[in-house]
Amino acid sequence: MPHNVNEQKHADLLRAQAAECTVLLASDGSFPLAAPGQIALFGSGARNTIKGGTGSGEVNSRYFVTVEQGLKNAGFTVTTTAWMDAYDRVREAAWQEFMNVIRARAKANHTMAVIEGMGAVMPEPEYQISLDAKGEAAIYVLSRISGEGNDRAAESGDILLSETEKRDILALNERFEKFLLVLNVGGPVDLTPVLGVKNILVLSQLGVSTGDVLADIVLGKANPSGKLTTTWSAWTDYFDGDFGDINDTRYQEGIYVGYRYFDSVGKKALFPFGFGKSFTTFDVAYGKTSAVPADGGVCVEVTAKVTNTGAKAGKEVVQVYASVPEGKLDQPFAMLAGFAKTKELAPGESEEVAVRFPMELLSGYDAETAQYILEAGDYILRLGTSSADHTAVSALSLDRTVVTRQVRNALGNPGFTDWKPSEEDKAAAKALRGEDGAVETVAVDASAFKTQTPVYDTEPEIDPLVRSLTDAELANMSCGFHTANPIGSIIGGAGDSVPGAAGETSNILKDRGVLPMVMADGPAGLRLTREYFVNAKGKKEGLGVGMPESITSLMPGFLVKFMTMQAAAKRKKATDVQEQDCTAIPIGTAIAQSFNPAYAELCGDIVGTEMELFGIHLWLAPALNIHRSIRCGRNFEYFSEDPLVSGLFAAAITKGVQKHPGCGTTIKHYAANNQETNRYNNNSRVSERAMREIYLKGFDICVHDSQPHALMTSYNLLNGEHTSERYDLIEDILRAEFGYEGIVMTDWVVNGGTMNKASIHRAPQAARVTAAGNDLMMPGSAADEKDILKGLSDGRTTRKQLEINISRVLRMVRKLVK
Ligand code: BGC
Repeated sequence: MPHNVNEQKHADLLRAQAAECTVLLASDGSFPLAAPGQIALFGSGARNTIKGGTGSGEVNSRYFVTVEQGLKNAGFTVTTTAWMDAYDRVREAAWQEFMNVIRARAKANHTMAVIEGMGAVMPEPEYQISLDAKGEAAIYVLSRISGEGNDRAAESGDILLSETEKRDILALNERFEKFLLVLNVGGPVDLTPVLGVKNILVLSQLGVSTGDVLADIVLGKANPSGKLTTTWSAWTDYFDGDFGDINDTRYQEGIYVGYRYFDSVGKKALFPFGFGKSFTTFDVAYGKTSAVPADGGVCVEVTAKVTNTGAKAGKEVVQVYASVPEGKLDQPFAMLAGFAKTKELAPGESEEVAVRFPMELLSGYDAETAQYILEAGDYILRLGTSSADHTAVSALSLDRTVVTRQVRNALGNPGFTDWKPSEEDKAAAKALRGEDGAVETVAVDASAFKTQTPVYDTEPEIDPLVRSLTDAELANMSCGFHTANPIGSIIGGAGDSVPGAAGETSNILKDRGVLPMVMADGPAGLRLTREYFVNAKGKKEGLGVGMPESITSLMPGFLVKFMTMQAAAKRKKATDVQEQDCTAIPIGTAIAQSFNPAYAELCGDIVGTEMELFGIHLWLAPALNIHRSIRCGRNFEYFSEDPLVSGLFAAAITKGVQKHPGCGTTIKHYAANNQETNRYNNNSRVSERAMREIYLKGFDICVHDSQPHALMTSYNLLNGEHTSERYDLIEDILRAEFGYEGIVMTDWVVNGGTMNKASIHRAPQAARVTAAGNDLMMPGSAADEKDILKGLSDGRTTRKQLEINISRVLRMVRKLVK
């Protein structure tokens, strides 16, 4: 069977730098080890290592390396096979029990088990297995998985450690002189009970080479240089925000998300945003600050000299935070303004790095005047290596308030006023930090800022071919390719030309030269069916059941049996089986933890190469929603709690993909999609300010820096209206304000089975979706087409808007499909 010629090359490329995605939380110098020897390996992720979460991001790679395998590949003798065998038995029993719980829950909620259980987290079971084992060192791999459809919970065996985990980790830490706790997780777990552990590494979930990368780190062939992109703390330390209601979620914390909250109330996180150690040490010495006019704004540059003061080669991330002066707007203690990663520095070696950022990025949003503003005052710049470890180095002095962008309010009223820190909170924040020393002042020329004034309500060009289409043809083109039976689309398998693709655009105009654009999921690589054959009619047919095990294990047994039989029969008649071996890349959070956009671009480049190979035009990734709460089940797909990090990493990945002709990214999910509970119909209630400064900002940055070819709206509502139906969000903000030039599509809206009947909010309507300038209803259905035609007669949409939308689709087809 011919494998993807790039498979090994891609795995090697990713592995070579993947330690940059891992974060060393604690280190006593006993790692790395000098040479492979006997090692005692424990924990849920030792053998059952997780390469990435479940759902759209679950990549069907041909193989991936577990920790057990990785250590063996590196020459270690793993002495705990009996422990791992015993754990497997415990886990299997727990899994069966968990399936029963899901089935019962589905029954009670009048839904299918597959919907109830999609992405559900099985809490780690409690058990007693002897820890007696030989070894020069011990490693405990704690893993957690989650995925779309369900959220995580602050419960034992999920966000909290189980009793067994606590007991075993602490015992091993005592028993072995060299002990490493490895976190094979997609998001934070509350490490309070094991803080005394000497060595802790967030390995994260690194796709194909996960186990090999750990072995490289353990042997010192690679040095962790990642930094946390989300605050890790005790569960009870986080903002006690609204989360998990099936109908409405109030984002009362406003702009105080993640470290912006911790820092502003003087709360010390266990492991702050931006934090990460190394096997070596660094000295970061401030250089200078400059602020020069550039592109209608001001480009700020802060330089620093980084010296490797330890004994091993390594990389450091220099971070600049800004404390924005409070005037009309309250402001968080500090926000990340920019960062720069050094090259690999040998012991004793130094490098001058420059952190550059446009000062406009620090603008706050004044909802009263609908303006992005930089208020007059001193902007204190802080240089350091985490959100909790920085020193004031300079102050940008702005002598008058400037308006950087004049827009119009668009997003509605959440029905409450945002929380903000009290005077006591601010005093506590100051007390924690201490007084700033005197710093140099750099004057900023206020006249350098030109107010951006977006042009709304423009008349986009209509394609001549589109003018000639009938209403029915326009309605069909507004939906993705679909057959009469929409069931296959539930798990994002509605593509026709490429097995396992999530969807594609309509082919009704193919004899007029308009071929479909094929879309495949991400973000942890390309999600396609691994094997296919070409049938007698020349059509590619996927082999295998076609669904991930996380889904089939929840389907009725008879159905899985039937599907398996069908698959077996198909395989029998299949001749010349072909492979679509896709590379599982690190999860979004891990990529961002590298703080190295070049690595993100490499990941995009790898995906782009495979898209070209397999005929995919649009990758349904990257996903850049904000880590608002550590409970969100999809956080692992997303980058960070910080919008700058989110935007820059989405842009870097997009640049990597779009280097490839005919390939584009689909940034998602636009916007405020930060919870999975009742994900199809949850209403995010968010202030205009928080939307613009936190939840939309990453999209703005990504569009500005990389112009992705497509964007996907989210399932949720925003202040009472579906995002997919919001003209203001799509046309006014995305297109007019951010300057977006690509196409817009819905998330995979499949009504019927997937709707939570208890929800008070209705599902999106295709007619209204098109009226909002949302070009494609995906994956689309006959009912959607009908609704669009009905909308033309009852006024919910117009022919003019359909023509505008389909003209955009056609332009993109001509650009991507050759
Ligand atoms: C997910 C999207 C995904 C789509 C297609 C949806 O359920 O929310 O992220 O791209 O399915 O599979």
